[in-house]
Formats: sequence, C-alpha cells, structure tokens
Amino acid sequence: MEEARKKVVLSGIQPSGTLTIGNYLGALRNWTKMQDDFLCYYMLADLHTITVRQVPAELRQNCLKTAAVYLAAGLDPEKITLFLQSMVPAHSQLAWVLDCYTMMGELNRMTQFKDKSARHADNINGGLYTYPVLMAADILLYQADCVPVGKDQIQHVELARDIANRFNGVYSETFRVPEALTTQNSASIRSLSDPTKKMSKSESGDGTIFVLDPKDVVLRKIRKAVTDSDGEVRRAEGKHGINNLMNIYSAVTGKTDGEIEREFAGKGYGEFKLAVGEAVADLLGGIQREFERYMADKAFLNQVLIEGAERASYVANKTLAKVYRKVGFYDPRR
Ligand code: TYM
Repeated sequence: MEEARKKVVLSGIQPSGTLTIGNYLGALRNWTKMQDDFLCYYMLADLHTITVRQVPAELRQNCLKTAAVYLAAGLDPEKITLFLQSMVPAHSQLAWVLDCYTMMGELNRMTQFKDKSARHADNINGGLYTYPVLMAADILLYQADCVPVGKDQIQHVELARDIANRFNGVYSETFRVPEALTTQNSASIRSLSDPTKKMSKSESGDGTIFVLDPKDVVLRKIRKAVTDSDGEVRRAEGKHGINNLMNIYSAVTGKTDGEIEREFAGKGYGEFKLAVGEAVADLLGGIQREFERYMADKAFLNQVLIEGAERASYVANKTLAKVYRKVGFYDPRR
C-alpha cells in the first residue's frame, strides 16, 4: 500500500522584535508539537516586517535571535525546514501574481490593515495593504494543509483560501486550499495592561511579556496586570484580565478552568498572580537557557538557515513554475 502523504504545515512569525508569550503560546509551541507528524515549513517572515519601518542592523539581529528562539522552543532543524522568507525569492514572485487575483474589496476588509494604518498613520504604504497577499503566497507555495496561528491571523488564512479557490477555479487545481489551526485557550493572549487588546510585540510598557524577559520582570508585569474588583479567581464574562491570566496559566500548566478555580478558591488575586508569574518564568527560563546556547553558535544558526532556504526554495519553485505556466508566461527553456 502506498504510504499516506504527510500533511504539510506552514507558518511564520515576523522577526520584528523579541517574541512575546502570545507568539509562543498562540503559535510557536503548537509548531513544535506538529514537527513529528507533519511536513513542517516554519519561516521568519522578514519580508513582512518592512511594512513598518525597521532599523536595518536591528532587523538583521532580530532575524538571528528569532531563529535561535525557534530552536530554543524545541524546533528541530533535522525534522523541519526553518528558513528566512527573504532568502526564497519565490515568495515575492508569487505574491505579485496573486496580487492580480485579489480584489481591493477583500483587502479593504482586513482588520489588521485597518489597525496598523491607524497606528502608523505617517506610513500607510502599499505593502501594508497587500501584506495578506504575500502571506497567501507564503502558504500556497508549499501546498500547506494547515497553518497553525493565533486568532488574529485567521482572517488572513481565510483570504488565502479564497485566493486559492479563485485561482484554481480559473486555471484548474493548482493550490491546496489551507486551513487555519488555533488552540483553545491561547489563540488570543491579551495585553496585561489592557486585556481588551491583543498582547503585541510592538506594545511598550508592561502589558507584554517577552520570551526573553528575566524572572523578576515577568513577576512584576504579572503582579501589575489589570484585573477587576470581584476578587474571585473564576472565568466569567467581562472579567477580561482574570480570563486572560487563566488562559495563560492553563496554557502553561495544562490545568483546566475547574482545576484552577479550585486551586485558588478563597485565595486572592495576589496569590494567583504569583503562581501565574512563577509558572511563566519557569517555562521561559528553560527557553532562555537554550536560547543563549544557540546564540553562542552563530555558525550553526547560519547553517540551519542556509540549508532551510535551499529546501524551501526547491518546493516553492516547483509551485511557482506551475503558476507561471498556468497564467501563460512564455519560457523558452521549457
Ligand atoms: P505575528 O508575527 O504578528 O505573530 C506570529 C504568530 O503569533 C500569533 N500571535 C498570538 N497568538 C496569541 N495571542 C497573541 N497575543 C498573539 N500575538 C501573535 C499570531 O497569530 C501568529 O500566528 N502575518 C503573520 C506572519 C506570517 C504568517 C505567514 C503566518 C507571515 N506569513 C504565513 C502564517 C502563515 C504575523 O504577522 O504574525
């Protein structure tokens, strides 16, 4: 019997700063769980980062650091393909083609575009607008079956599905139609200082926990997290801060809501926050030790990125060649 085809997974994170526990719990950690059973392509979405101004030297350093965080989180470059998006030109090439199969109306609906253009009113560039098309290219190039992401990226994956279906409809089956995959409690980790907002890399202040934050900083940020005056550790509508801390605690410890509520019955928020802080700091401590080890071996990181880009290019170029042929580009070599 023919061996079943391994399902393909693709995902990415923008190396625009230090990753947050939102990135880790919402995406990266799930990636590591998939690496044994799926054919995984995990990229550093560096092309996406320049939709917002970056300091070049910092971007270069952040790419290396993010690669080290990927490995420190447990991704094994022997099992997966880890690569930098900018090292695989097919991403930009397919993005252009797909731009021509994406409607302005679709892009106008993207909530991330609306948010980011409000936050960067002085730099509402074309890249920010067509960003979801580049993301569709990222996914479709690898014929991905699933895309493990946090909740904020679901709308983009849905657009990738629409673009794939549209292209397939016009030219016959070309792309596999991908599905977004999210986890229950950690699909949307909220800011500690304003739990109505998503925790984000670009937030300054104490609302965001970065994976490289030292223990005392983690404990302080969680101690200061905004909660409510009810005083009871239980999940309920409107208790945004506590719901968020419960999500974090549950994602880190594996405990259910019921277990958490029993553990802290009759105890105050102070005690709960301390437990959440300790659990998060312990988890991050392990990642940080591994991170330092990888950062001390730049030659190894470079090698992983070079080999990753070669493997990714091979697969991506196959899809791109198919697309070029289908849309009618003439190539005298064929
Ligand atoms: P980015 O870099 O903003 O975030 C990377 C991943 O982390 C998830 N995430 C969160 N999950 C839970 N709670 C949060 N507070 C939180 N913040 C971020 C995101 O949902 C994402 O899964 N456009 C993408 C990067 C990208 C991509 C791709 C992803 C480019 N091409 C192709 C998947 C497939 C982005 O900006 O993610």
